[in-house]
Amino acid sequence: MTWNRRHLITIEELSLLEIEQIHATASAFKKILQRNVKKVPALRGKTIVNLFLEPSTRTRMAFDMAAKRLSADVIAFDAASSSTQKGETLRDTAENIQALNADMIVIRHAAAGSPLYLSKILDIPVINAGDGAHEHPTQGLLDTFTMKEHLGSLRGRKVAILGDILFSRVARSNIYALTKMGARVTLVGPSTLVPHGFTTLGAEVSHDLKSALADADVVMLLRIQHERQGHRHFPSLGEYTSMFGLNKTRASWLSPNAIIMHPGPINRGVEIDSELADGDRSVILEQVTNGIAVRMAVLYLCAGHQPEHVISSTEP
Ligand code: CP
Repeated sequence: MTWNRRHLITIEELSLLEIEQIHATASAFKKILQRNVKKVPALRGKTIVNLFLEPSTRTRMAFDMAAKRLSADVIAFDAASSSTQKGETLRDTAENIQALNADMIVIRHAAAGSPLYLSKILDIPVINAGDGAHEHPTQGLLDTFTMKEHLGSLRGRKVAILGDILFSRVARSNIYALTKMGARVTLVGPSTLVPHGFTTLGAEVSHDLKSALADADVVMLLRIQHERQGHRHFPSLGEYTSMFGLNKTRASWLSPNAIIMHPGPINRGVEIDSELADGDRSVILEQVTNGIAVRMAVLYLCAGHQPEHVISSTEP
């Protein structure tokens, strides 16, 4: 089947086949990234604007790196020195970027729905790099790509996602991706951060950490997102850690070969102890590395290339 999508807004709208096409394309790019010459000419002559209106380290740099590895020109929008500070709207900002002949926009914004909105008013592809508490599709794609590298097929595998689910775009994108891929997803944390409504997305909801971690093949920790919480959803960080923080004892409840994941940034000593974040079972930095190949795949496909051509069209 051919790839027909120009925008990447959500994982919710992707089919299982499209997720597999992105993963297959990312695998091919990952091999290229291991060569001496890591750059391919696929997007030569194209200009990609990284329109980040919220802070980011990993996502912004991985999109930047991905675009450069594809030979695109990249412009990093500097929100602090831009005319958004004078009140220019998102619509006007994006239409001006398009008028400057950008070929693609990668957007991160605090408001859910911003990437969808831009995709409706612009003629160029729009890629969602995280919109409020809605979705972070490339994070879900790189997380599932990393899980597959360690576990093979995710069908029937148990993935526990632990922490601030309510405010997490990472959780939503992972729930959509994992359930489409046949994994069993258990969401765990305090009831204020893991409301029962998430069962409608096909995940189980648990407030019992031991049973949620029992036999899990993956545990994904999520950061407590103070910036999205109007008020605290638990008495104190210390109490959260004492009830739900991942430590050595609790990690022993996982399957023997289970992996530990976190999208970053980490609150060390809050949702996870440093010895686990830096330990043998942690794949946290692999997630970051895989973010480049996955974002290369997304940029490449949304620019109009086909997944099956990735090797032949990018060989030097
Ligand atoms: N995982 C993630 O989105 O990290 P950044 O906010 O640093 O991009």
